[in-house]
Amino acid sequence: MIARGLFREPLWMEKVAQLAGQFALITDSTVADLVAPRLLSMLHQRGLSTHLFTFSAGEASKTRRCKEELEDQMLERGIDRHSAVLAVGGGVAIDLAGFVAATYLRGIPWVAIPTTLLAMVDASHGGKVGVNTPHGKNLIGAYHPPQLVLVDPDLLATLPEKEMRQGMAEVVKAALIGSPQLFERLEQMKGEIAIEVIEESIQIKQRVVCEDLTDRGLRRLLNFGHTIGHALEAATEYSLSHGDAVALGMRAEVWLSQEMGYLSEESSRAILKLLDRHRFPARLPKDFENKRFYSALISDKKSHARTPRFVLLEGIGRPLSFDGAYCTPVPLKMVEEAVSWIL
Ligand SMILES: NC(=O)c1ccc[n+]([C@@H]2O[C@H](COP(=O)([O-])OP(=O)(O)OC[C@H]3O[C@@H](n4cnc5c(N)ncnc54)[C@H](O)[C@@H]3O)[C@@H](O)[C@H]2O)c1
Ligand SMILES: [Zn+2]
Repeated sequence: MIARGLFREPLWMEKVAQLAGQFALITDSTVADLVAPRLLSMLHQRGLSTHLFTFSAGEASKTRRCKEELEDQMLERGIDRHSAVLAVGGGVAIDLAGFVAATYLRGIPWVAIPTTLLAMVDASHGGKVGVNTPHGKNLIGAYHPPQLVLVDPDLLATLPEKEMRQGMAEVVKAALIGSPQLFERLEQMKGEIAIEVIEESIQIKQRVVCEDLTDRGLRRLLNFGHTIGHALEAATEYSLSHGDAVALGMRAEVWLSQEMGYLSEESSRAILKLLDRHRFPARLPKDFENKRFYSALISDKKSHARTPRFVLLEGIGRPLSFDGAYCTPVPLKMVEEAVSWIL
């Protein structure tokens, strides 16, 4: 369900009430102050027994240890198999609380209530939940889609601009792999984000995921900008945010698409202009480390025989199909040129 003011008009409550008799509302320490009190009072007024569980805001909480702590608290408070989890917050709360729901008493239902743009358009959809480990991000997890996703763009009013940009990078990516109309909307966007932009970005992710739930073919499309983006994150030891890394990745992958003769100069220029307009970085940070970058790129799961493979574009909203897959091998030499172009 998506609507502005959703949490002022408790239409959603009936759907939630059908899921369980008792609820565990899991959220981070920041969102606990901003959103949880209102939600809790509405749920209590409707007679739905709800317990609040919080963890410290930030990526550092997306761990097995934090999951275990939440689970122990839930067991102590008597959250049983007739209960459901309400995951409220950004991607961290969604991934962590969704994973708690996936394994708690062998799995209970859950509802995603995203409060960041990234969680609204990306993390709440697709069914992937999980935690990080010292060996890497999202390595332990499950496929456990939420029964319901409640999106209220009004919740974004308190979100800092830097966090908005994290989500905007995924919105731009959605337009580039799936919708010239969405791209046009983004070109014309002024001020706050329109509900239609969020709605269409969600539809694009859902379309891709529905056809490829377990991550084999089509889902690779979601990797546009991410092949270089992920390697940049690794090469800067994650000092570069995911959204900014993906935006730089999109710039470089647009350059590759054009240089390899698939994407017109005009489209390429329009894409770069849109990224500028949304104030995404155009240059790599100074602490960028070449060697780390290439080793991360080669270990990308799409790479084959030490040749990286990319989702490229043949138009805005038109990913390139290569040998029946959205995955095109690109010689390392060209990748080097693409990187020096954003250096
Ligand atoms: N499961 C998936 O498919 C998927 C997809 C994309 C990203 N992710 C995951 O999402 C995570 C990143 O998500 P994120 O960027 O939302 O980070 P986040 O959850 O850490 O939220 C960012 C910050 O914003 C704060 N915040 C949240 N809502 C707010 C609001 N309405 N007003 C003010 N502050 C608010 C949070 O407390 C936090 O400090 C990563 O762990 C990533 O792996 C998962
Ligand atoms: Zn991403």
